[in-house]
Amino acid sequence: MLVTIIVNGEPVTRDVEGRLLLVHFLRDVLALTGTHWGCDTSNCGACVVWLDAEPVKSCTVLAAMAGGHEVRTVEGLDRFGEYDAVQRGFMECHGLQCGFCTAGMLMTARALLDRNPDPSEPEIREAISGQLCRCTGYASIVRSIQWAAAEEAGTREVH
Ligand code: FES
Ligand code: FES
Repeated sequence: MLVTIIVNGEPVTRDVEGRLLLVHFLRDVLALTGTHWGCDTSNCGACVVWLDAEPVKSCTVLAAMAGGHEVRTVEGLDRFGEYDAVQRGFMECHGLQCGFCTAGMLMTARALLDRNPDPSEPEIREAISGQLCRCTGYASIVRSIQWAAAEEAGTREVH
């Protein structure tokens, strides 16, 4: 079936099988491999992208279901060629090690800060609770998101 999805602001039309998952559409059809495929059982959250600005696990969505909707992936997270504050936060605070979970974490973090620019630590932990990181122990991910929030609020202390 022909499906048209707005991906990172650009409409793309492809002929897809009805059973094709959005994560595979992004990675295998569009070569947007920043979104990772970890478990295929909706447990890991490595595949999180936005569907109409809502973070979703793209292994739980059929590409056909995304037809007519907007999808944003980590490749579309930077704005006007500048890294987003959450991307800079993860770099500054070592919010990643192997990086496998990072794209999903970034998309969730950005959605959180768009809704709640000053989240508490429990709110951050709640927001990322559907996503697994096997490396960082989460503390540095939380710090990275706090860094981004402070950066955007202009309250980050400069050391
Ligand atoms: S690949 Fe989607 S939740 Fe793990
Ligand atoms: S940085 Fe390795 S899984 Fe999170």
